[in-house]
Amino acid sequence: MAKPKIQFVCQNCGAVHARWAGKCDDCGEWNTLVEDNAGGGIGGGPTGLRSPRKGRPVALTSLAGDIEDAPRIVSGMSELDRATGGGFVRGSALLLGGDPGIGKSTLLMQAAASLASKGYRIVYVSGEEAVAQVRLRAQRLGVSGAPVELAAETNVEDILATISEGKRPDLVILDSIQTLWTDMADSAPGTVTQVRAAAQAVIRFAKSTGTAIVLVGHVTKEGQIAGPRVVEHMVDAVLYFEGEGGHHYRILRTVKNRFGATDEIGVFEMTDKGLRDVANPSELFLGERHDKAPGAAVFAGIEGTRPLLVEIQALVAPSSLGTPRRAVIGWDSSRLSMILAVLEAHCGVRLGSHDVYLNVAGGYRISEPAADLAVAAALVSSLSGLALPKDCVYFGEISLSGAIRPVAHAQQRLKEAEKLGFIRAVMPRGGDDTANALGGNTFQPQTLVELVAKTAGSKQRKD
Ligand code: TYD
Ligand code: MG
Repeated sequence: MAKPKIQFVCQNCGAVHARWAGKCDDCGEWNTLVEDNAGGGIGGGPTGLRSPRKGRPVALTSLAGDIEDAPRIVSGMSELDRATGGGFVRGSALLLGGDPGIGKSTLLMQAAASLASKGYRIVYVSGEEAVAQVRLRAQRLGVSGAPVELAAETNVEDILATISEGKRPDLVILDSIQTLWTDMADSAPGTVTQVRAAAQAVIRFAKSTGTAIVLVGHVTKEGQIAGPRVVEHMVDAVLYFEGEGGHHYRILRTVKNRFGATDEIGVFEMTDKGLRDVANPSELFLGERHDKAPGAAVFAGIEGTRPLLVEIQALVAPSSLGTPRRAVIGWDSSRLSMILAVLEAHCGVRLGSHDVYLNVAGGYRISEPAADLAVAAALVSSLSGLALPKDCVYFGEISLSGAIRPVAHAQQRLKEAEKLGFIRAVMPRGGDDTANALGGNTFQPQTLVELVAKTAGSKQRKD
């Protein structure tokens, strides 16, 4: 029999090393390597003990019938269904990550209740709270009457044995993956070895029975799902539940989805009765806006398939520091540096001795380069002290040469702006046929110089 192979697994990122070291080469963390028996029974027992079994390939076309059989379990919470790509997929595993206390258990309890009252068999297994505590939460959410089956259990074999009894469950929620442990691995719960082994066992159960599984995972401060980053590769979909402290809304972001789009978001508001779907997030992110506010520009963005209007706020103030401060919340700081460089190099806007603060209202995070134009407008407006028109939206990408580039979905952005009462737009030329949008009330500069001249009037020098 082959000698059991010893390897060392990083408890932070899951990287496997042949030799022990103080520092993981992959993620740079110290003291995270732990000895692990590579054969350890994970994924089908030690190698070399079992003779190969022959599989049988199936024609792709012959699968069609199986799949049409209502593959999705629709929760009825529209924002959750949007993020999952139309509901939970039977036989799939989904990982829901997020900071502790952000509302993962709340979201899943509401989804479980909604599904259970539609007649699905839903099992909610909590490894963190006692059944009484889970019931208390359900009471608070006003869903304690829903026929959800509750269990407080952490051993995977026990869980699978319990849920295999009776009618096959449609959805099983395991809260959380860090508390699960299996007899197949002998490390402590929460270690990479345990988390991986436990996840593998429940994913195998999901695939073989057609039950949908939701795994909850806590995220570390660095933004990784603690330990079980390995799980991200094993599951079919990964959703993150995010929110800023002090704000009441939460965003459910899809980062991986084998059965749907990955750039979707679901928006919720946390109330004292749990999470509420926010059907029109633009209204939420635009918040309270005042008439005379230099430095504020409304960006017409797209998040997944949905347009989203957010206010971008800039503050430019003379600096007393040798190296002026650049602080950004909700946007990419290197992208801000780029816009500042373009303003300086091509438009003569000197910001080298100014502190620059940029904030996306409501604590929302923008990832689109289409926000460049709104950022530039906000910066110039703050520097010149002249407020931008309140009824105008901005979008467009700025290149290093100072040219304004077209971006996708211009029509959709304009339609959303119009719906929310905006009557003007500053946007790129070309692309879709948009010149006549908003009653022709659009300004389509070709370069950033034109925008600066229009925004700051005679206060800025034109090159
Ligand atoms: P929870 O779902 O327990 O978070 P997680 O499972 O991600 O750790 O959410 C806990 C927080 O949500 C807690 O700070 C209180 C808040 N909350 C409400 O504001 N309203 C509610 O109705 C509930 C149930 C929780
Ligand atoms: Mg929880």
